[in-house]
Amino acid sequence: MIVLGMHDNHSASVCLLVDGEILAIAEEERYTRVKMDSGFPKASIDALIEQYPYEMANIDYVGVACIFQSYKDFATKRYPGFKIRDFLIEENKYWLPILNGEKPNYLKVMKDYINLQNCHYDLKKIKNPDDSEELQNLRRSHIADYLNISKKKVFFIDHHLSHAHHGFYSSQIDTDAIVFTIDGWGDFANATINMVRSGKLECIYRTDQFNLGRIYHFVTLLLGMQPEQHEYKVMGLAAYAKEHYIVEPLKVFEKMYKVEGLDIKPLMKIKNHYQYLKNELEGYRFDAIAGAAQRYVENMLKEWVRNWVKETGINNVILTGGVALNIKASKIISELDSVSKIHVPMGSGDESLSIGAAQYMWSVKNDPTLLQKIDSPYLGLGYSNEDALSVLDHPYVKENFNIKENCSPKDIASILASGEIVAYMQGRMEFGPRALGNRSILASPIDQNIVQVINTAIKNRDFWMPFTPSILAEFAPKYIINPKKIDARYMTMAFDSTDEAKNKLKAAIHQVDSTLRAQLVFKELNPRYHAIISEFSEMTGVGALLNTSLNIHGKPIVHKPVNVIDEILVNPLVELNYFVFDDFLIYRKGKESI
Ligand SMILES: [Fe+2]
Repeated sequence: MIVLGMHDNHSASVCLLVDGEILAIAEEERYTRVKMDSGFPKASIDALIEQYPYEMANIDYVGVACIFQSYKDFATKRYPGFKIRDFLIEENKYWLPILNGEKPNYLKVMKDYINLQNCHYDLKKIKNPDDSEELQNLRRSHIADYLNISKKKVFFIDHHLSHAHHGFYSSQIDTDAIVFTIDGWGDFANATINMVRSGKLECIYRTDQFNLGRIYHFVTLLLGMQPEQHEYKVMGLAAYAKEHYIVEPLKVFEKMYKVEGLDIKPLMKIKNHYQYLKNELEGYRFDAIAGAAQRYVENMLKEWVRNWVKETGINNVILTGGVALNIKASKIISELDSVSKIHVPMGSGDESLSIGAAQYMWSVKNDPTLLQKIDSPYLGLGYSNEDALSVLDHPYVKENFNIKENCSPKDIASILASGEIVAYMQGRMEFGPRALGNRSILASPIDQNIVQVINTAIKNRDFWMPFTPSILAEFAPKYIINPKKIDARYMTMAFDSTDEAKNKLKAAIHQVDSTLRAQLVFKELNPRYHAIISEFSEMTGVGALLNTSLNIHGKPIVHKPVNVIDEILVNPLVELNYFVFDDFLIYRKGKESI
């Protein structure tokens, strides 16, 4: 049976599931080169058709995540189109008048943002923008037409059920588990709980009152950062807040909602979360606001998960949905005495909805026990030989770089050990927002000074954001404190660091709280990346590398080698001298090859 999973809002993607196994996942942003790109994922589908023509011509079912989508999201391309100023205009022109008793029409007040050409769906056919069924029919027709299949094969899957299925089927937990899905919003809910018993998921709780994702979204906006993209910067900043600064702003958050047993209770009637937070947080320091928001999220999640574990007697916890990207909160939950195992999947935000939708679709049309679990992140598509060779003939490369063939893991490790930074790519893309050694910028983690070099010369990152390490799995006990043996292959969990890590991995741990968002590198999952780090450990005694994603600020992770040239190396503000793909080393003229 061949199932195509699809997600068509922000972070759009497609997932090809054949005979119970995921063959590939394609994220739209990687092809259109627009970060978190939204809408019908045409470019991703085309890429799958090119690579898997037989399977794509013989689809049995399409599972599309989200039963309901919003006309205004498609018409304005709100995500990822809106910038900070646009969100503020939306708040002031649309939401604030509602608070004041007016009834503005969204499409009228935001008319400057509407561009129906931006959307693959023919929105001109929609007679009533408020009729979600009419929009669903348009989506169904377009998907069926494009894939040349019957409309009867296209099904729409609940947003949170999609999150839950991806959470469970990407975990190594085979016994009973509780799956928590927590996010900003999807199909009229922002949190659900699914019980897994004997490999079957059952949704037992659903609420639209767990507004943690929304609160974090508005705090991000209030701090002058991009909502839905820069929440991780608020989390990184939170660690810098002094404890006594947090006390008062924390009360602002605690007045909103509380955990009561298994449920979430609103403590006041909040008509507009943004205006409430804006008014109540005025005058507090920026870092205190970040710290208080983070503490509130941690406390709420900790209590809620603990209560559910106690009630059900099930100690295995899976966290997914956008809020599960908050690794500090996941870390605190992982430390609960009553939690035995915890899993946070790769790409727990909406980019993985296509995976969960495909898995759900399979589980209702086939035997769920035949559905294979995901155990590798390298499920994206690769690039062709032609793509690779085009780089060697690229005029900018010819003018500015030398080329060395047969570059070995030892060669790469030598460059890194000498203190240089290497852009590295090989094979199939890792799925999700974390680079895991196939689309990575690598450096030695030993010298802290490298942080500033990468921040200013390449990534243009904020000074308070930490870098992360890829650690040889066999070195894990040396560097991370992980008594519960949490699966850390996807870089979705944070750990406390050992004294040796504090000493040897200075450039890849959080400068204030010394936590590590570690990726453990297993030889069987990525032999070449494992070999590079092994060679580096032979030379330096350190079994880890600093690993950050291969992109520049604001762009998606690269897909093929030419993206590295066109988006990164040609940029006059970027100083990057070494680029390795496959066995080719491209190094700037004037630099040594090894
Ligand atoms: Fe979601």
